[in-house]
Amino acid sequence: MVQRETWATRTGFILAAVGSAVGLGNIWRFPFVTGEGGGAAFLIVYLLFVALVGFPAILVEFVVGRRTERNPVGALMQLGGNVWKYVGGVFIVTGFVILSYYSVVAGWFVRYFLEGFRDSYAGHLAGYESAAAEAGEPAAAIMFADFSTGTGAFLFHTLIMALSIVIIALGIRRGIELAVKAMVPAILLLLGGMAVWAFTLPGSGAGYQYYLSPDFGVILENWQSLLPAAAGQAFFTLSLGMGVMITYASYLGEDRSLTRDAATIVGFDTGIAFLAGLVVFPVFFAGGITEPGAGGAGAIFVSMTDAFAGLPGGRLLGILFFGTVAIAALSSAISLLEVVTAYVIDEKGVERWKAALGMGTVVYLLGVPVTFDLIFLDLLDLFANGILLVFGALVLMVLVGWITPSFAVEELSKGIGDLGVWGQAWIWAVRVPIIVVLVVTLYLGVTDYVDFLTQDFAGWIGENL
Ligand code: PHE
Repeated sequence: MVQRETWATRTGFILAAVGSAVGLGNIWRFPFVTGEGGGAAFLIVYLLFVALVGFPAILVEFVVGRRTERNPVGALMQLGGNVWKYVGGVFIVTGFVILSYYSVVAGWFVRYFLEGFRDSYAGHLAGYESAAAEAGEPAAAIMFADFSTGTGAFLFHTLIMALSIVIIALGIRRGIELAVKAMVPAILLLLGGMAVWAFTLPGSGAGYQYYLSPDFGVILENWQSLLPAAAGQAFFTLSLGMGVMITYASYLGEDRSLTRDAATIVGFDTGIAFLAGLVVFPVFFAGGITEPGAGGAGAIFVSMTDAFAGLPGGRLLGILFFGTVAIAALSSAISLLEVVTAYVIDEKGVERWKAALGMGTVVYLLGVPVTFDLIFLDLLDLFANGILLVFGALVLMVLVGWITPSFAVEELSKGIGDLGVWGQAWIWAVRVPIIVVLVVTLYLGVTDYVDFLTQDFAGWIGENL
């Protein structure tokens, strides 16, 4: 058994949780799933999800962690009994799969960061002009295709996983806290500044229209794809359904208001994602890209490289931007590896460095195919986000809402005082609407995945094997 450590300060806990929550989910994944979901229609469903499902759900993970003071597997076992440890196991597997491709994407950011030192972004783009003209695609898209797969991508994936393993093996919590303290204000400043700049671009108006003015007809028509995508994104970005928040709350010594902490974390996380959209969509439309959904995983890279190529001081801004996101990604990657490692240490009695190295290596290998073909990114992401994560969250809600509800309200009220009717409202939200939403989401996630496997993936296999 490891010794139970506790956070030195309340701020330490909040920073670590924000560090986990704020990452590629906000800056990379959010704009591209929003693009795929049709812009504003997605945004509105997503924001509703964050407020009505994400917020109560993060509180569930918090009370479970703080009450049991265990890792997710141990926590669920303690609450529900022996069979529940398998459910806890699902959390671990989810984190495992997500980290495998998360690291590849984080590697892209490091690459874009370092390339800024070699040449300006405009200089890089110039090098891709002729290939772009031939393919009839923007140079930034060709550059992304070049950077996102192949040997370079493979090496950067290796670098990110190696860094994560070393940090987790050393158990540097102070390092994480420091990095996050600098990172969150830096991201806010950079994204805020870029959003203002994006506003001044000719033609950006259509971007705001696309991002901010929802067509409710579209929502009603597409709810079957919007719902799972928005729910998956809300859980992903808040680091839910993987036991990160359970684990972090398990290090909380004193009893203080969890709702305040949760509100802070959710607020920062949502704000940063929203800002990222305010940069990406105007820049897209100003650059003549009117179908942001088509950008896929490259959306942010394509739009930002274009932006940095055209901006005065763009090279420095770009280096700052990609570097900051890389740090944000690393602090999230670390939290994922920490959960997986903590489980092995806690339950199997393995030494920390061996656990980190062993688990990290397997995660690393799982991510390697992604560096060769982005179809594997979808293969892993749709599975981990659309199915595993939702399933884990769902069963946790069933456990806390229906099987062991009495401790939850009591635990939540610690440090707050009598919750009155809000305690009941929370428990009932968990019991019925959230569970219903998650069941529907899970169903749609599974059908989505089956579609993907039988169409896109089967097609890919047909072409490549
Ligand atoms: N929340 C992180 C992000 O938005 C990703 C993450 C998911 C991190 C799950 C830890 C656990 O980038």
